[in-house]
Amino acid sequence: RIAYVNGAYVPHADAGVHIEDRGYQFADGVYEVCEVRHGYIVDLTRHLDRLGRSLSGLRIDWPMTRAALVHVIREVIRRNRVRNGLFYMQVTRGVARRDHVFPVAETRPSIVVTAKRTDAAAIARKATHGIAAITVPENRWDRVDIKSVGLLPNVLARQKAKEEGAQEAIFVDADGTVKEGAATNVWIVDRDGNLRTRPAEHGILKGITRTTLMDVAVPLGLKIEERAFSVDEMLAAREVFITAATSICFPVVSIDGKPIGNGHPGSIAQNIREAFFGVAE
Ligand code: PDD
Repeated sequence: RIAYVNGAYVPHADAGVHIEDRGYQFADGVYEVCEVRHGYIVDLTRHLDRLGRSLSGLRIDWPMTRAALVHVIREVIRRNRVRNGLFYMQVTRGVARRDHVFPVAETRPSIVVTAKRTDAAAIARKATHGIAAITVPENRWDRVDIKSVGLLPNVLARQKAKEEGAQEAIFVDADGTVKEGAATNVWIVDRDGNLRTRPAEHGILKGITRTTLMDVAVPLGLKIEERAFSVDEMLAAREVFITAATSICFPVVSIDGKPIGNGHPGSIAQNIREAFFGVAE
């Protein structure tokens, strides 16, 4: 495998950044994960737009022009022969002697791009059988709209889910409303068959898959409401599902050990998943 690191394509096994990279010391950086499907990058424009918003949110410069970055991304995908998989890009504030304040303006941001094939069988299994989730109290900072590499609460939440036999952890706000998953957005299908998800202005990451789902749902005749919902509403929902670039759409069949609906994946999540594969290419 090949990785791109600060201007060079290097063997993945030997790829590294400096020990004083601010991403390493302070999680002072941002990232994107995007899907590659049949050789196409899904929703690249939206991912690059969000990367730009995350960078400006932390006042980090683009590491190169957008066009140059697209070239690097395509090259990493090509060199790794990824037709179906994911690529990852991370930009940090760069290498500087450890000091909390920003380094001098000349400091170059660091950029890393990697790509890998995904386990199609494992993804299909989760899509078919659904996943289990747990709820955890929200304990992240209030700028989770920035896709920062500071993911310790997400890491701990996912690990807790794993230790409890689940695949995702869902953050719940102090007011009892559902925020999002550790690395996914959360949706419910209410009693009337309408989709509901939390508004993305504040308190969650505005997922690209979430946005694309809104395009996909319209031709299916589904109504979408961006309104917060409580844990109780989620547990009583007809269906619950999660979305992210890594999974597109996985049904959630149990939460905190309680079955959702009849405990099996619902038809709406399934239809949405199929509809996704007809667009966004
Ligand atoms: N995570 N919410 C959080 C906290 C996320 O980390 C992600 C994505 C999403 C979904 O966003 P999108 O649809 O743009 O992938 C929502 C990536 C996949 C990750 O950290 O691996």
